[in-house]
Amino acid sequence: MADLRVNIGALALKNPVMTASGTFGYGLEFADLIPLDGLGGIIVKGTTLKPREGNDYPRMAETASGMLNCVGLQNKGVDYFCEHIYPQIKDIDTNMIVNVSGSSPEDYAECAARIDALENIPAIELNISCPNVKDGGMAFGTTCQGAESVVKAVRERYHKTLIVKLSPNVTNIADIAKACEAQGADSVSLINTLMGMAIDIERRKSLLSIGTGGLSGPCVKPVALRMVWQVAKAVNIPVVGLGGITTATDAIEFLMAGATAIEIGTANFLDPAVTIKVRDGINEWLDAHGCKDIHEIIGCL
Ligand SMILES: Cc1cc2nc3c(=O)[nH]c(=O)nc-3n(C[C@H](O)[C@H](O)[C@H](O)COP(=O)(O)O)c2cc1C
Repeated sequence: MADLRVNIGALALKNPVMTASGTFGYGLEFADLIPLDGLGGIIVKGTTLKPREGNDYPRMAETASGMLNCVGLQNKGVDYFCEHIYPQIKDIDTNMIVNVSGSSPEDYAECAARIDALENIPAIELNISCPNVKDGGMAFGTTCQGAESVVKAVRERYHKTLIVKLSPNVTNIADIAKACEAQGADSVSLINTLMGMAIDIERRKSLLSIGTGGLSGPCVKPVALRMVWQVAKAVNIPVVGLGGITTATDAIEFLMAGATAIEIGTANFLDPAVTIKVRDGINEWLDAHGCKDIHEIIGCL
């Protein structure tokens, strides 16, 4: 068995496979289906300072090789998370990472500071890339200035591993990644969903309540892979790659393009055990190719 351990800043992962926010609940929902401690990390649902209702229904639509969603960060807020969810997940033997979103830099920083106080949450993933909310979200992730303002504010109040999740809905994602690195991000993860839409031609209406939604699943993989490759060359901090990963081959492509770890999102809806299968598949591939350590293939392209 090859050594699958990797590090994201100060965060040690037993293997590079994590779950993508919004597609794996709080992990608990999958506890009867897979061994949660077999994952490198679980990135839980998007959390905001105040509770959010999310968008009206319909907020999901199937597409060729993927899906659109406009859930809109529905969650009960950070205080509810700290009081009711954290006690249930704090003893899961993997890195439990909270995905944080907000509508102003101060908002993000306050939410992050409250999570900083939780002993068994070793990292946060800052979502500056949600395309489905009006206030904030993706607005911060589409300019260097916007990204800098959030990362700077959070860095002042959050002292553990800070991963910043980037939006693919930009012209030059490497510039945004460099701006995050300069403000003290320990890692960047990419990609969040690509903005898209679908229309019901009989009703002459969008299939989604707010008109547009975020595209995810296998159809986004080539775009995600290209962006991970570009960002990995541009920054010195570790890159977490995601977007359409469904198989071990997909994951290995991201690792070869320069990702130190990967996340799996939409594929969990098709096969709740996909994360464990991808982890095992990476290991088998390394063994079959005589690699003793996963670092032999990270960035080898
Ligand atoms: C239903 C749904 C909800 C999501 N919610 C969040 C979220 O709360 N925060 C976030 O950063 N990304 C969210 N995402 C984006 C995913 O984490 C991921 O970046 C994206 O789906 C691409 O990966 P995939 O193709 O493996 O799904 C969501 C995606 C889906 C499909």
